[in-house]
Amino acid sequence: MLSLRSVSALLASALYVSSANARGFYAHYMVGGIIEGTDHAARDIDDASALGFDAFALNIGAPNAGWATGAIKQLFDYADQTDFKLFFSVDFYQESNMDAYSKLLQDYVGRPSYLRAGDDNYPVVSSFSIGDHDAASFRKWKWESLGDQMYLLPNADNAPGYNNPGSWFQGDWGNTVDGVFGWETAWPWGGNQPENVSSGFDTEVLNAAHRRGKTYMAPLSPLQFKACCGSQNYRIGEVNLPQRMAQLLTLSPDFVEFITWNDAGESHYIGNIWSESQVDEDIKKYGNNEDWPHFGWQPLIASFGNAYKHGHGPDGMRPQSDDEVIGAMWYRTFLSSGSCNGKKPSNWKSAVDAVNWALVVDQGVTDLKVRVSSGGKVISETKLSPGLNYAAAPGIRQGTQKIEVVRGNKVVKVAKGAKKVTDGSEHCFYNFQVAGLE
Ligand SMILES: *[C@@H]1O[C@H](CO)[C@@H](O)[C@H](O)[C@H]1NC(C)=O
Repeated sequence: MLSLRSVSALLASALYVSSANARGFYAHYMVGGIIEGTDHAARDIDDASALGFDAFALNIGAPNAGWATGAIKQLFDYADQTDFKLFFSVDFYQESNMDAYSKLLQDYVGRPSYLRAGDDNYPVVSSFSIGDHDAASFRKWKWESLGDQMYLLPNADNAPGYNNPGSWFQGDWGNTVDGVFGWETAWPWGGNQPENVSSGFDTEVLNAAHRRGKTYMAPLSPLQFKACCGSQNYRIGEVNLPQRMAQLLTLSPDFVEFITWNDAGESHYIGNIWSESQVDEDIKKYGNNEDWPHFGWQPLIASFGNAYKHGHGPDGMRPQSDDEVIGAMWYRTFLSSGSCNGKKPSNWKSAVDAVNWALVVDQGVTDLKVRVSSGGKVISETKLSPGLNYAAAPGIRQGTQKIEVVRGNKVVKVAKGAKKVTDGSEHCFYNFQVAGLE
């Protein structure tokens, strides 16, 4: 006979499993100004929804600025008419005072489109970093802002002791958070040589979180390249996106947050960059939809989102369209060893000169291969299998870049880069040219 205690433990784990199986797929969204009367808020929500995202994590660093509150209102007003959800991700780097966010939370958590989670169905509040706040400050903030009715899902990367997730969750933080969000594991740190992304630390955090009945939101991102605001940084890049997709489909975290929908400054956008939201002149040069569009990654993201929600592995990824194969190729526009006018970003030595590609092939299609041409020469040919296929084809050459999907002698689809690769460059831009398969 089951004791009362084991019955309640069973119930708790059953409830827990039900929320863990929700598998929410979200995109980090930089809130910038949105001109009233444009359809920009609606377009972002409709576009993200069409890719299978469930919600935007609205990054707020200026909670009282008129441009921010105006954009937030437009986003919620539109989302309330759809199934799409929104939640706040407060940016403690930009505004470290917790109380500065409380009114905004109070104003919006009651909206029908505000994302809720957990057994109590509380509004989800996430963050970028924890600032310099300790667990007790977070508990106080939960009480004072929302009467303790908050599903707290902070980005805990910089929390003291977090490098040992087991003891971190057993301690004070474990009594405070409902789950945690990782940011830094989206890419390898890099350095002086190529390095691959790893889900090792994500696995440790997820296991530690689950042992305490908490959740884990894992990050997914193609790269980071920043050349503004006094900092030049590069985190690869290359096949990071598909490699991480395969890792996360195996890990199957409670939530996945894509970094990001529209952060031009960090070069890891896949959506629209509105001119009124992105006003920094340095960023506009390397993070924009005209010269550096990243829309070509979108069909891969949609395929990942669908596989993740259904619990499929990388082999179970499928095109989310009528196409038998979808995907993209991407590359940098000058050889890493080449010269550029200015300062190369930190970690540039971990960059690999390669034509990167990822393709998702439909079930039962086994007679396709991909041919990579660089500077007019075929540099690789690979047979494709159903599900996710990817590689970094080394030996990139100066000139035009393309991949062709072929069946026998027939070219079925092509992705061709819009910019040539050169030896040197007038800018030190490590952002990628991304070309979708057409
Ligand atoms: C990264 O992963 C790829 C497989 O996708 C492998 O070929 C390559 O050797 C790895 N690189 C490093 C530095 O481990």
